[in-house]
Amino acid sequence: MQVKKAVFPVAGLGTRFLPATKSSPKEMLPLIDKPLVQYVVEEAVASGIEQLLFVTGRSKRAIEDHFDISFELEALLQEKGKDDMLQEVREIADMVKIFYVRQKQALGLGHAILCAREFVGDEPFAVLLGDDIIDAEQPCLGQLLDVYRKYRGPVVALEKVPIEAISSYGCVKATGITDRIFEVTDLVEKPRREEAPSDMAIIGRYVLTPDIFPILERQTPGKGGEIQLTDALLTLSREEAIYGCLFKGKRHDCGDKLGFLKATVDMALKREEFNEEFRDYLREVLARG
Ligand code: G1P
Repeated sequence: MQVKKAVFPVAGLGTRFLPATKSSPKEMLPLIDKPLVQYVVEEAVASGIEQLLFVTGRSKRAIEDHFDISFELEALLQEKGKDDMLQEVREIADMVKIFYVRQKQALGLGHAILCAREFVGDEPFAVLLGDDIIDAEQPCLGQLLDVYRKYRGPVVALEKVPIEAISSYGCVKATGITDRIFEVTDLVEKPRREEAPSDMAIIGRYVLTPDIFPILERQTPGKGGEIQLTDALLTLSREEAIYGCLFKGKRHDCGDKLGFLKATVDMALKREEFNEEFRDYLREVLARG
């Protein structure tokens, strides 16, 4: 069955970016000139997703507005003859069919996914987390969907991380099927370094099936007192095979200030419009010592 739906939890408060996120969602922070959320939506669309559900919370209106038609803005751009910008702004509103549901309480990622149950119905679906911005030739979600089509089971994106960083992630123990595809045999949410079953971290892209919902419904709070998707996946892995995919591409952790800064520099260096000048500027800054 084709995966046409994606769930995008965006109810988090973004406390790591305060005060920037006091009244504006962290998903709207711009990497150069595009909000984070748009990079992820574009990845979903490029992977064949047709319907997207945002699981939102309070003060997330700006996300809805961003993917809506802005009559005033379009009229202004038209009047000024700024056709390129007009087209760009229109394309955002036409990108994908978007739905919204409120996660009324911040009970964790697992709970956010459970809020998508009615939207998902009886189909496999994707989950994308907005902190991870992935620059890849084939979109990361597309890579996971290839694995799903071949093995017909849930798939999580994996990345090897330095072991001292593993406690920031869900961590898996996995058996290799190929050099990039694994069967996942154990999952632990944010383990202490000594308890981590490997250096393979779960990155914010998943392909799931509705089998996860009855498990999430019964899931008791785990790490941080939250209903964790990782814990539900562990239960699921005892019932059916679940897979991991070491994706090809560069991930930027934009949930973290330094990661965000690095992402901005990397993206800027890839932009032709200021490539040379920006490169020269970086050299100059470094030479200053
Ligand atoms: C979530 C998941 C975690 C995963 C991470 C990827 O954690 O719970 O398993 O490794 O996303 O970004 P969060 O970073 O939202 O705390």
